Amino acid sequence: MRLLFVGFGVVGQGLTRLLQQGAQSLRDSFGFEPTITGVATGSHGTLAHPAGLDKNALLQAAAAGGMAHYPRQDGLLRNEGPLAMIEAGLADVLVEVSPTNLVDAQPALNICRAALDQGMHLVLANKGPVCIGPAALESLARQRGRQLRYEATVMAGTPVISLSRETLGGSGVREARGILNGTCNYMLTQMEAGMSYADALAQAQALGYAETDPRADVEGHDAASKAVILAWALFGRSLRLEDLDIKGITDLDRADVDEARAAGERWKSIATIDQAGARVAPQRLPLDHPLASVGGVNNALTWTTENLQDVTIVGPGAGPEATGQGLLADLLVIHRQYQASP
Ligand SMILES: NC(=O)c1ccc[n+]([C@@H]2O[C@H](COP(=O)([O-])OP(=O)(O)OC[C@H]3O[C@@H](n4cnc5c(N)ncnc54)[C@H](OP(=O)(O)O)[C@@H]3O)[C@@H](O)[C@H]2O)c1
Repeated sequence: MRLLFVGFGVVGQGLTRLLQQGAQSLRDSFGFEPTITGVATGSHGTLAHPAGLDKNALLQAAAAGGMAHYPRQDGLLRNEGPLAMIEAGLADVLVEVSPTNLVDAQPALNICRAALDQGMHLVLANKGPVCIGPAALESLARQRGRQLRYEATVMAGTPVISLSRETLGGSGVREARGILNGTCNYMLTQMEAGMSYADALAQAQALGYAETDPRADVEGHDAASKAVILAWALFGRSLRLEDLDIKGITDLDRADVDEARAAGERWKSIATIDQAGARVAPQRLPLDHPLASVGGVNNALTWTTENLQDVTIVGPGAGPEATGQGLLADLLVIHRQYQASP
């Protein structure tokens, strides 16, 4: 399987490390030996080689400042853009790990469409294209007989998308409620331990959990984009982000947190997805609720089903290897199908 990476930052490099370090066990356990034939970045250069790029050299080039540091090699192409690489038939799977744009999902959306059109499979960590236009992408993938997979877009490699789309099939999911933003959860956990909102935010930024501009996290938009993706995965409903009720944690202070604690409850930022739509808001949960005990940067999702009652999964929602694992799991699904009927 030949891979084209669009984006080679935290997540792209995280997946490359998993492929490199796990090469033997992936080969022995699954017969999986992918090659990376193309890498495109925004401003750190591009690389392509039909016979495959060296994963270690790619990681070293990224660490040294960009693709220009990749060693010379016969047949190496240094100036191909992602669309040219797609049109040249350089790869079988597009790994979309460029920045998320929740306004129009561009330029990633056009690249995703081109890849499916060209007969490539599509695997994403970038939420934009799945959040903005899942129905059109899924239909294009179906027409072309290719896979559209996006495990890493919600809760990184903690497998909520495959559970929602596949494993919980037929269980009669009525609703899913989740903690989908690690920054908010970390801040609320710290506030319960005695910190002010401002100090909790500053600490989340110092630890690299929150962006320099933390609004997408604390105002609920990041969690809302994941709720939109889950609504598609669970119910085949294509929601518009702007139609969701979204309330962040910005109005919560220590007094609110203390008041909840005195009542045996805990504030959590909760995304709710059901047949009626999706919404994000802080909620007070009783301490024995499965989501109440999820602390720090962890994420969690509880599905309420007819056949299994409640099912809850807790796990990391971000990080290079955790997100790389979501992409790897998707690649392995495609690989298995490929082996069964190439
Ligand atoms: N980090 C996580 O834990 C995590 C978890 C789940 C999902 N995600 C999603 O995964 C994606 C990647 O995240 P990340 O943390 O790896 O981001 P990142 O470290 O900022 O890396 C983004 C990469 O995309 C490249 N890029 C920017 N514009 C591009 C363009 N027009 N065409 C091609 N490449 C372009 C960047 O190149 P330059 O540096 O040259 O601009 C960089 O290599 C994002 O959509 C993010 O929301 C991340």
